Amino acid sequence: MSDEIKDIDDHSGIETTGHSWDGIKELNNPLPRWWLYIWYATIIWGVIYMVFMPAIPALPGMGTNTPGLRNHSDRDLVAAAVAELKEARVAQSETLLEASLEEIETDRGLQQFALAMGESLFGDNCATCHGAGGRGAVGYPTLADDVWLWDGTLDGIEYTLRHGIRHEADLDTRFSLMPSFGRDNLLSTDQIDDLTDYVLLVSGQEHDATAAARVAELYQQQCASCHGVNGEGDRLQGAPNLTDREWLFGGSRDDIYNTIYNARNSHMPAWQDRLDDASIKALAVYVHTLGGGE
Ligand code: HEC
Ligand code: HEC
Repeated sequence: MSDEIKDIDDHSGIETTGHSWDGIKELNNPLPRWWLYIWYATIIWGVIYMVFMPAIPALPGMGTNTPGLRNHSDRDLVAAAVAELKEARVAQSETLLEASLEEIETDRGLQQFALAMGESLFGDNCATCHGAGGRGAVGYPTLADDVWLWDGTLDGIEYTLRHGIRHEADLDTRFSLMPSFGRDNLLSTDQIDDLTDYVLLVSGQEHDATAAARVAELYQQQCASCHGVNGEGDRLQGAPNLTDREWLFGGSRDDIYNTIYNARNSHMPAWQDRLDDASIKALAVYVHTLGGGE
């Protein structure tokens, strides 16, 4: 477009751009001032920002990146935040290690720290066997209840975690072995059948009373030393209470027969060589809280 032909709009008296679309012309109004100033301001802001803040690439021909005069770096900020968090954690871990259960339970911050740490460690290390949230599975005790095979105090749980259960590599492991009464021919299958009825009896389930009566004596000889005179169990030996209907290996006739015949003697790994002290303590606190521990 040449500018010598100035086309003035008849109606408004304003110069047009000279463009015409089917006779409709565009007025060449100046840009509104407010708009123009904002536009200038953004340009100035852009330049200032480019000088002070890092940008990729800020200016043509300046390589990959200009760091900016303020030396601001999100990467450094994150690294610093992580370092700070780690430091806070070390401090909290140390407090956790020294704190008693009462101290942990009365210090909300410490308790929350322990529970959060314990929960995530539990998901990584324990849930494969004990289920999410410690809900348990056949052969793997539920930790989210107040039934304990062994010691359910915080110290007791910590001991279990450190040394495991029947973990041969650890001399201090919790240990007991229920004999495989059938497999090792210690008892006849008839006796095991009757003992099954006896266990059904003490757990308040349907049973053959005569069969159970036949082995009342045998139970006292063979089983009471671990499971108690009345089937109440013994935590020093990890022998389950047989009366509470909380079964580790199932409470049906077949399950019980199988347990007496084979004995399960399940294994729980020791964690003291795999996890640091603070992690074990945090896990113990977590498990203790899960189960309404003692
Ligand atoms: C390989 C499977 C396995 C893994 C992994 C495992 N456990 Fe166990 N845990 C067991 C078994 C099996 C028992 C029951 C052993 C027995 O018969 O006494 C047990 C028992 C326990 C007990 C004792 C429960 C009671 O009633 O006294 C606690 C506490 C426990 N586990 C916590 C944990 C924690 C915490 C972790 C993760 C650090 C973990 N376990 C990882 C298999 C496992
Ligand atoms: C040396 C101790 C010991 C003796 C003796 C013993 N038990 Fe056990 N029993 C245990 C332990 C420990 C467990 C569970 C631990 C495991 O196997 O993981 C258990 C588990 C059981 C269970 C499974 C309980 C459940 O919750 O699923 C039954 C049933 C049982 N025993 C019955 C008997 C009977 C019947 C006898 C006698 C014929 C007997 N036990 C003798 C230690 C013993």
